[in-house]
Amino acid sequence: MEKHLQNPIFKVLADIAQTHQIEAYVIGGYVRDIFLNRPSKDIDIVVLGNGIDFAELVGKQLKTKVAVFKNFGTAMIKTRDLEIEFVGARKESYRADSRKPIVENGTIKDDQLRRDFTINALAISLNKDNYAQLVDPFNGINDLEQKLIRTPLDPEITFSDDPLRMMRAIRFATQLEFSIDESAINAIKKQKERISIVSKERITDELNKIILSKTPSIGFKYLFDTGLLHLVFPQMANLYGVDIINGKGHKDNFYHTLQVLDNICEATDDLWLRWAAILHDIAKPATKRFEEGHGWTFHGHEDKGARMVPQIFNQLKLPLNEKMKLVQKLVQLHLRPIVLAQEVVTDSAVRRLLFDAGEDIESLMMLCNADVTTKNEYKVKKYRNNFELVKQKLKDVEERDKLRNWQPPITGTHIMEIFGLSAGKEVGLIKNAIREAILEGDIKNSYEEALQFMLEKAKEFGLQPVKH
Ligand code: CTP
Repeated sequence: MEKHLQNPIFKVLADIAQTHQIEAYVIGGYVRDIFLNRPSKDIDIVVLGNGIDFAELVGKQLKTKVAVFKNFGTAMIKTRDLEIEFVGARKESYRADSRKPIVENGTIKDDQLRRDFTINALAISLNKDNYAQLVDPFNGINDLEQKLIRTPLDPEITFSDDPLRMMRAIRFATQLEFSIDESAINAIKKQKERISIVSKERITDELNKIILSKTPSIGFKYLFDTGLLHLVFPQMANLYGVDIINGKGHKDNFYHTLQVLDNICEATDDLWLRWAAILHDIAKPATKRFEEGHGWTFHGHEDKGARMVPQIFNQLKLPLNEKMKLVQKLVQLHLRPIVLAQEVVTDSAVRRLLFDAGEDIESLMMLCNADVTTKNEYKVKKYRNNFELVKQKLKDVEERDKLRNWQPPITGTHIMEIFGLSAGKEVGLIKNAIREAILEGDIKNSYEEALQFMLEKAKEFGLQPVKH
């Protein structure tokens, strides 16, 4: 076991424990990650007694500052690249209305028993008589081998004590690709309403960790099946289900969305592109119609979806900044390349797409590629081929017309100067006409052609240049 405590810091901690006759253990995520071969820089130390006092002794020995959090009874030391947190072993009990426990001193087993999962309750001794020995009263090692998320206590108590753990169970199951013990799943189903005492920020933190995993659908399926998703993100749960009229059904948009999400995860680690995948069809339930002779339609779901993005970001306490704008834009535009890929790809359609997507064109193409979830091999091939065509055209048009980050070759100020106008409707009309002519390919994206075109166009509006 000593091989697990390679870092010299453990000898330092063990010596202090020995000198002061204090029992100390490494515990929690650091120990779990040793067995999962995931190197970690966060070390949690639990001592029988006062964690802050022990941290002060360590701080003195290492000549480092100790950050003390009196209210929590914890202290933290940063040394080189490690962050070490110290706490006294606790025997906790919780109140129904709060995540804050009433704390008493306890044994190491008391402390382990009050942790969230058996795999997070593993401890390694730093004490002389059993140095580096694993302390595993709840068979956490076995659960690691079985790839199982299980609680040390009756799961109803563990989750009721701290309802955030319901999200954590699902998050760990997704990150580690473990399954959740049946009784824990049942406990989540029973206790799910208690998630309401957890702050939105913490819930979203866990959601984001699920989304940043390799296969986020694992987590969303658990969230949906336990009913948690309906509480923390009802718009997404609402995607579930298939309506059938006259024997015609539509695809289940929940599972489709999960597939798109998993697909985009193969192409990018970017959290916001992953959010765009989650939200791309979010307005489908709200726009769903059955049209006689036509079948199911979701007209305008991209516009409505884009309008829903700020409200959802706000509700989930996601940032209301340029990341939200990016997600909104991708939701808004997500059908455009697909429409292009189905039709003959004209230069002007490509130009318009490039103009609207600007520098996010690659992200948009990534989303659209991920959106192809049909099982029909022929259709997949057709879409992918057409996407390649669209991509090639995008490249050609981009090289020729430089439309990315397009700036009008003639500015509004310029127009006002040339025609002696003050700001007003006419300036906008002229600017639009120039933009349309460029996008349609009638003129090049250059000052000279735009100027010529404008002088012609101005005649239609009855305008004369005062100088040029
Ligand atoms: N813990 C708990 N209940 C919680 C949060 C944490 O019992 N709601 C315990 C677990 O023993 C956990 C340890 O505190 O291992 C440290 O928590 P944290 O740093 O949040 O998680 P890690 O397990 O270290 O995992 P990660 O860093 O991936 O979040």
